[in-house]
Amino acid sequence: MLRLFLLLFVHFSVSLGGDCPNIRIRPSLSETCSGEGSFMNLVDSLIQDNFKIHNPCGRPHPRFIEVPDRSYDFIVVGAGSGGSVVASRLSENPKWKVLLVEAGEDEPVGSQIVGIGLNFQESSIDWNYQVFGSSDSEKILRYPRGKVLGGTSVLNGMMYMRGTKEDYEDWKDLGNTGWNHKNVLKYFKKSENNAEYENSYHGKGGMQHVERCPYTHPMVKDIFEAAVENGLEMNDLNAENQTGIMIAQFTQKNGVRRSSARSFLWPARDRPNLHIMVNSTVTKVLIKNKVAKGVKAITNKGNVFQIQAKKEVILSAGAIGSPHILLHSGVGPSKDLEDLGIEVHHNLPGVGENLQDHVLTRVNFMINQSDTNTLNWDTLKDYIINGNGPLSSRDLMVATAKIASPYSNGRADIQYYFYGSLVGCSKTGHPDELNTPGQKVLTMMPVMLRPKSKGYIKLKSSNPLDHPKIVGNYLQDPRDMEIILHGVKFAMTLGKPKALQKYNATLSREVPKGCEDFEFGSDDFMRCSIKAEYGSDNHQAGTCKMGPPNDPLAVVDPKLKVYGIDRLRVMDSSIMPNVIAGNTHATIQMIAEMGSDFVKEYWGY
Ligand SMILES: Cc1cc2nc3c(=O)[nH]c(=O)nc-3n(C[C@H](O)[C@H](O)[C@H](O)COP(=O)(O)OP(=O)(O)OC[C@H]3O[C@@H](n4cnc5c(N)ncnc54)[C@H](O)[C@@H]3O)c2cc1C
Ligand SMILES: *[C@@H]1O[C@H](CO)[C@@H](O)[C@H](O)[C@H]1NC(C)=O
Ligand SMILES: *[C@@H]1O[C@H](CO)[C@@H](O)[C@H](O)[C@H]1NC(C)=O
Ligand SMILES: *[C@@H]1O[C@H](CO)[C@@H](O)[C@H](O)[C@H]1NC(C)=O
Ligand SMILES: *[C@@H]1O[C@H](CO)[C@@H](O)[C@H](O)[C@H]1NC(C)=O
Repeated sequence: MLRLFLLLFVHFSVSLGGDCPNIRIRPSLSETCSGEGSFMNLVDSLIQDNFKIHNPCGRPHPRFIEVPDRSYDFIVVGAGSGGSVVASRLSENPKWKVLLVEAGEDEPVGSQIVGIGLNFQESSIDWNYQVFGSSDSEKILRYPRGKVLGGTSVLNGMMYMRGTKEDYEDWKDLGNTGWNHKNVLKYFKKSENNAEYENSYHGKGGMQHVERCPYTHPMVKDIFEAAVENGLEMNDLNAENQTGIMIAQFTQKNGVRRSSARSFLWPARDRPNLHIMVNSTVTKVLIKNKVAKGVKAITNKGNVFQIQAKKEVILSAGAIGSPHILLHSGVGPSKDLEDLGIEVHHNLPGVGENLQDHVLTRVNFMINQSDTNTLNWDTLKDYIINGNGPLSSRDLMVATAKIASPYSNGRADIQYYFYGSLVGCSKTGHPDELNTPGQKVLTMMPVMLRPKSKGYIKLKSSNPLDHPKIVGNYLQDPRDMEIILHGVKFAMTLGKPKALQKYNATLSREVPKGCEDFEFGSDDFMRCSIKAEYGSDNHQAGTCKMGPPNDPLAVVDPKLKVYGIDRLRVMDSSIMPNVIAGNTHATIQMIAEMGSDFVKEYWGY
């Protein structure tokens, strides 16, 4: 009782609100954290009213509209990692009227807490796509995608990681003039406000705040030691040397998430020339004589609008959403569209093809460690008063490493995450509730960064509100399997050094179903385990790929304009010709920054 009193006291002394409406945006933490709600309800109301965490006076709701005007200069579809940047940059010109249409609603407050913000997967702000691992397997994966202002940057892991220099040189060599590393670096730096690094690789004063989490779990030091003993150097992996280990930076500040919406739309809240329609799904781009004329959208309440774009329509609906909208608009493989009775405006075979993603698997070590790194009164107090402690951080996930397998000519092609005792949801706030003292699991996750395997997206019906059929084709190319196998073996050696042996780390003896006949630890056993247990790292890309006119699968040209349809561009993860070798958010912001400049150049600003 005394603890509750203390916390409430602290709570009232920091929540000095203004006159701004404190809107409760669902889902709440008690809805997203399973279990009995009382403690989570309390957490929820403490942070709801904490202006350090979410400042309702900064939110973009003054720009929300229920009924759009008849026409705008630009219509941007989707307010995710990419679209928030595009709408923000284009509305910098007060003469351009910009409409941003987003299927979801404003960001909930709970997702702002760095330590538990990932719990919003599978909630009402997740599209919850399902994906077939391959066309001939039963395996079904979940693709979480944000359906919310800020898109997937509201429920992602926030790690700030760019692809390697060679990734962009590859894009250029494929015929995408202007996308060389030197040029894209300018745009990475334009977005970036890096609180820690000051050198030619990093930007200051940009709209996306980037810094390390305030709190570092003590075990991270041991993981570093083990990595260094295995030959990894400590490097900023977003700079000169692109292999090694680092404490990653995150798109957060003081333990509070900085989504693309918060970074790019909140500062635009006073611009009368920017309108935002939330709860509104675009069902098609209106096309006449091969020119994009506007969009058709339906609101949650069932109102349908046809809105005109005088200059351009820009799709930023993500790697699933953008090809999905194009197909319903009659832009895609004509045979598929005709089969569904969709009027074809342009035959573009690449729409929905070239789906690429990073595949990961788990290597589990049993360790002996009693750790109370969880969501309880003390960690909550530390977070609310100091913006520190486990709730401000991503646990062992703050460390990341990249290595080059023997298949990559020295280029980073495997990344590692580490996972141990992430702060979970809590029923009671009791410190021991989630942690049985003693044995725990330390997970190392190798991620395969340069997939040769490619999946696809196709429509299941002509109803634009139905989810499409998605097939990942993970590990279909045998080389992809050999790379991740290398990643698993290296993870096993990472567990050996003294630094981790002090926890008595031992490889888990679990045998996945179907792998019983293989000799434990043999290559074939590991291949079988990988097949049984792999997952997606949620870095889907490539489904509207950028390429030169002679590339039959190219959907957009190097200025991001859709082939065959005038006044229509795509700016999000779907335009990557090859998925970059790193986490995707920063690269998508770069794409949106560069694309916004193409538009400004074209229309003169
Ligand atoms: C669980 C998870 C963890 C991740 N961790 C990291 C990480 O640590 N670091 C990192 O860099 N990346 C991470 N990623 C990946 C990264 O977040 C995504 O690649 C990125 O956010 C995608 O950006 P986007 O602009 O392409 O699409 P999105 O951000 O998904 O934006 C698309 C937007 O369009 C809207 N939309 C879609 N269709 C329509 C329609 N028809 N009408 C209106 N609106 C529509 C959606 O609601 C959404 O808001 C993670 C992803 C997930 C799922
Ligand atoms: C990159 O690695 C090399 C070799 O280890 C080292 O000499 C150099 O200082 C590193 N560069 C940076 C910028 O860290
Ligand atoms: C969006 O829809 C949700 C759920 O239907 C509703 O609670 C919310 O008020 C709507 N927001 C706006 C701005 O219309
Ligand atoms: C590690 O913890 C487990 C479970 O508590 C225990 O059975 C085991 O004896 C411990 N191992 C060592 C070496 O202490
Ligand atoms: C690890 O194992 C040794 C030997 O069995 C034991 O003495 C030690 O207490 C164990 N350490 C932990 C952290 O359990």
